Amino acid sequence: MTLVDGFGAPVSHNNQSAIDAFYEAAILLLGYAPDPVGRIKAVLQQSPDFIMGHCFLAGMYLVASDKRRRKSLLVQYEILRELAPQANDRERGHIKAIKLWLDGDFYASSQAYADILLYCPRDLTALQFGHQTDFLLGHVSSTRDRPARVMRHWTRDDPEYSFILGMQAFGLEESGHYAAGEALALQCVELNPKDTWGVHALAHCYEMQGKTGQGISFMQNCEDKWGGDNYLSIHNRWHLSLYRIERCEFDLALQAHDKHMLVTPKSELMDVHDSAALLWRLHLDDVDVGDRWNAVADRYVTFIDQAYMPFNDMHAMMSFVATGREEEANSLIRALEAASELEGTGAMIIRTAGLPVVRGIQAFGQGDFSKAKNLLSSVRHCSNLLGGSIAQRDVINLTLLGAATRSGDVAMVEGLVDERTALKPSSPLTDMFMAKTKPGNRDQL
Ligand SMILES: [Fe+2]
Repeated sequence: MTLVDGFGAPVSHNNQSAIDAFYEAAILLLGYAPDPVGRIKAVLQQSPDFIMGHCFLAGMYLVASDKRRRKSLLVQYEILRELAPQANDRERGHIKAIKLWLDGDFYASSQAYADILLYCPRDLTALQFGHQTDFLLGHVSSTRDRPARVMRHWTRDDPEYSFILGMQAFGLEESGHYAAGEALALQCVELNPKDTWGVHALAHCYEMQGKTGQGISFMQNCEDKWGGDNYLSIHNRWHLSLYRIERCEFDLALQAHDKHMLVTPKSELMDVHDSAALLWRLHLDDVDVGDRWNAVADRYVTFIDQAYMPFNDMHAMMSFVATGREEEANSLIRALEAASELEGTGAMIIRTAGLPVVRGIQAFGQGDFSKAKNLLSSVRHCSNLLGGSIAQRDVINLTLLGAATRSGDVAMVEGLVDERTALKPSSPLTDMFMAKTKPGNRDQL
């Protein structure tokens, strides 16, 4: 008899308690709660032939966007290759996605996770891993469409329903459907106030529409639901800080950084990005952030040969130029140049978007604003190749604006300010930049 997991998706394994433990670990991951890796590893110790358990562990390594996890991913794949003859169709779909990712065919891997949903729409792990690859690859339309594939197979009575709503809300937001995304995210958090991906989706919707007051109010009023022991708590605080910056409340943003985002030698990669991205924006706004960059750069040094996901390298470069670490900066550029010569999706991304952006950040840090403008202008409209969210990649536009400001390029400042005003008509930050272009203030440029 075929057993099913807590989602209602079939598994080839025959130990129901192991299957139930896998489901519990998968629910932890859907809620970004600790510690799904530890949980599934304990299950696999007892049940080393549990194929879906291995697929789940491998999926978490796959979406980590961290080159250091590749070795662990390879180990899981080798185990799965041995077990594959006993796998069912769903599990074979996961194994295929893992193999394609290891081969460097990231786009096909992401699609393989989507294909699983056609015959197994109750596989929320396939949905979540695919959703995360959409995020890492900047596949905006898939971020919107993938959750729609499964929606009719779920109802509000399913305890996992909010997770699908949260993913679709984020996809709608990333594809520019801000009002629809906001409405769905509100449904999500109403259904499950602790759904931190739903909270995050709503934070994005408010960010993109310049609804800073609503964003601050919402995030503060439910901080007890998302601000605790949760892998998204730092990132959601980063979002709260973005509202502060948009309102030119730089002191409050810096306070939030120091309270929640200080980098330590054990900080996770995504958390280091939040610190770097916030400090860089404050730097662009002429805020003195003191010696806060040192800990960030120290942490990035351990990733210096990444050249894996250039989204990571873009943030690392910010810290290297901010601390004057020319050797590390040049080493990073060399690693990216070498990687750009290779075959595969990753190399294409580095060639097309990664290198120009990272070089642009470096040029900005070196005070070569003309070079920074040329590089960043040429690539910013395909920067989605880098992955991450629109809000995260907005730092590229802001750096360009900073380069235009610092080089006295009034026409470019005005053009970029006009672009921002079209999306956020009431923004003190945009007003601040616009004010600098006025005749009496142009000496500040
Ligand atoms: Fe975000």
